[in-house]
Amino acid sequence: MPSAFSDRLLAWWDKNGRKDLPWQNPRTPYRVWISEIMLQQTQVATVIPYFERWMKSFPDIESLAGTSQDKLLAHWAGLGYYARARNIHKTAVICLEQNGGELPASSAELTALPGIGLSTANAIISQSTDKPAAVLDGNVRRVLARHTATRGWTGAAAVQKKLWELAETRLPMNRGADYTQAIMDLGAMVCSRSKPDCANCPVRLDCEARLQGRIDQLPSPKPATRVSDVTLQMLILKDEKGRVLLEKRPGTGIWGGLWCLPAGDSLECIATALGAGLNGKKTLSPVEHRLSHLRMTIHPVLATPGNATQVQCSSERGWFDREQQTNLGLPKPVSDLLSRLDNGELK
Ligand code: ADE
Repeated sequence: MPSAFSDRLLAWWDKNGRKDLPWQNPRTPYRVWISEIMLQQTQVATVIPYFERWMKSFPDIESLAGTSQDKLLAHWAGLGYYARARNIHKTAVICLEQNGGELPASSAELTALPGIGLSTANAIISQSTDKPAAVLDGNVRRVLARHTATRGWTGAAAVQKKLWELAETRLPMNRGADYTQAIMDLGAMVCSRSKPDCANCPVRLDCEARLQGRIDQLPSPKPATRVSDVTLQMLILKDEKGRVLLEKRPGTGIWGGLWCLPAGDSLECIATALGAGLNGKKTLSPVEHRLSHLRMTIHPVLATPGNATQVQCSSERGWFDREQQTNLGLPKPVSDLLSRLDNGELK
């Protein structure tokens, strides 16, 4: 009979686990929170420089609550899933107003905040207090689904319920912080999606998927989501000073709250919305951009305004030079187009 799952996992982690991730030193609730949100859809190696830059600019909740959403989105630009950054800002404001600039301590209070689900709440609690609390992110779901040979897509409610129970029953009595990191590390470093390193797995002896020869079938794949094709015209409108017209996207939906080149189904619609004629139109080669559920083809058009003063500017629309653009959160294809414009690649 092998020893407890958590004992074997912790012994493995002591030898092989990651102990020098920036959010582990020090493991404060604020640092763990920001890292957990960044890590929700993004790889560790990508997150590290973002996390370090973030902590320099926003060392605590107070500095975060006091900053503009634009500045915050500029720090997030490139990480994707921008609702995460908007929720961080909302949560910081709530914590400053209601809790003296601290995150609350209980899982019930944490999950009541925007953008914090139960797994993230428990990751914050376990890592910052060392109290064991179950987490269930993508890596952990894969470890548990394999260890118990649980079938079904791990995002389905019934499967989730079972996995939460399994996660709870495996918790150790103490070393909550290390255990959370250990089970995530096992998923990332050993029990990877493809080509898991079962020979070096500390829980291989009672891993049901391995015993049944079904490692490569578990966890069960997500039922296919339909990817839609979208075609978009995007206008790079340059005034006589070389500034570019940008518009702030509505708070919800694709690229919510980010600054974008004027975009729409047709150039006529875009020009009508701006209230200005276009001169010297030049169609550039199309750009492909993939989002989880969308395959976007962007047709950029370079132009100058018939009369720049006719363009109706507001807090959500204005002319920006290169320097000002660097302080804005821009969607990836927009910042790519603007860099190419700056490099003289688009003429
Ligand atoms: N993904 C989510 N949280 C993580 C962590 N603390 N370390 C590595 N990957 C993670």
